[in-house]
Amino acid sequence: EKGLRVQDKGFLNTAVLRSQITFIDGDAGVLRYRGYPIEQLAEKSSHLESAYLLIYGSLPTKDQHKHFESEVLRHGIMHSDAEGFFRSFRYDAHPMSMLTSAFAMLGSYYGEANPSLQGQRLYTQGNKESLATMDRQIYRIIGKATTLAAMAYRVRQGRDFVTPPVGLSYTGSFLYQMDHLSEQNYVPNPVLEKALDVLFLIHADHELNASCTTVLQTGSSLVDPYSAIAAGCASLYGPLHGGANEAVIRMLLSIGKPENVPAFIEAVKRREKTLSGFGHRVYKTSDPRSFIVRKTADEVFKVTGKDELLETAMALHDAAMKDEYFIKRKLAPNVDFCGLIYRAMGFPLDFFPVLFVVPRVVGWLAHWRQMMLQEGGVKIWRPRQVYVGETKRDYVPAEDRV
Ligand code: SDX
Repeated sequence: EKGLRVQDKGFLNTAVLRSQITFIDGDAGVLRYRGYPIEQLAEKSSHLESAYLLIYGSLPTKDQHKHFESEVLRHGIMHSDAEGFFRSFRYDAHPMSMLTSAFAMLGSYYGEANPSLQGQRLYTQGNKESLATMDRQIYRIIGKATTLAAMAYRVRQGRDFVTPPVGLSYTGSFLYQMDHLSEQNYVPNPVLEKALDVLFLIHADHELNASCTTVLQTGSSLVDPYSAIAAGCASLYGPLHGGANEAVIRMLLSIGKPENVPAFIEAVKRREKTLSGFGHRVYKTSDPRSFIVRKTADEVFKVTGKDELLETAMALHDAAMKDEYFIKRKLAPNVDFCGLIYRAMGFPLDFFPVLFVVPRVVGWLAHWRQMMLQEGGVKIWRPRQVYVGETKRDYVPAEDRV
């Protein structure tokens, strides 16, 4: 085994790089973006301002913020060819499948890292031209994430696509494009727009979660960032990760009334059911984002009215939090109960993981940029294994096999 040590299943205790972007203390329930506590950013910052912070390492000056925001919004426009691409999906295709494919499609438009470029440093510190390329790629992916998401939504609704509006905020523009009513008289509801912006902000990054690791693993081969983002999107789709916000609502719908919670909890303890929205690989006390979700939910419900599933969710939360089975395993609510807010805001259930991807492309890009600019250049990620299979044996002709 030549000194190789098998990491526990699922990289349980493996650090693969050094990062300056996001800090998590799972025992203390701490989350900071470039040193700033998530609670302060959720209170005082905006999604795009925090996006700039995550990607470039400092809070932007007014001019930097203005330039970043206008570039991101400008790049929100999609080529009309994309309409044919989206129309090729069945009306009931899952929006996450459409979005994963759409990011890969972007790579067919702009793939800057093609074979002719490989082998030379694509992005070098101080090389203005290549840094400008990287910035443009970042603006495009953040700007287009909302447009592609809205296009996937429109396919599901069988409706025409809308051009991203001018003059609205990033989140306001997204809500406009997603508008379920008639966009002619669309006026962004300030409470819902602010709530979604806070949810985008707290979903923007979370260090080396499964999807971020996927983006870096893929990007380490120097493929274009659009293709790497598509890989991250596929990873986040899973119900153990970003798909959990959809799974939480499906779970609550299957439980129905609060009086059915005790039987559900017992089924979970018999491992017949999964308690989505609970547990986390890193947080072993509480996910600090869950408190921000709770506070945001109170704001939203004042506008939309309470969701009938809320009572069941609270009953489930209270039952799990005082049950020895969950306490022993240090299982607490994670960020994925935010599905109750998305439901109250009227988003379709299978669209919830898309609402995770849209902000998370920021964190993926921050880590991708950090990797591209690392000292000594990019090393392809190629882990080893400990082989425990058959020893050498010779081929046996079919007629001699038993
Ligand atoms: C996100 O990594 C990130 O940062 C992710 C994320 C981000 O921002 O990117 O925070 C977003 O993905 C949040 C997590 C969303 N997923 C879910 O809500 C799905 C339900 N949660 C579980 O699948 C689970 O808790 C994970 C996947 C989140 C974490 O799994 P781990 O770290 O591999 O933990 P584990 O499976 O080893 O669990 C330890 C014990 C086990 O019991 P034993 O087998 O040792 O007896 O806890 C049990 C598990 O069975 N357990 C659960 C449980 N989660 C873990 N039991 C019941 N219900 C659960 N939800």
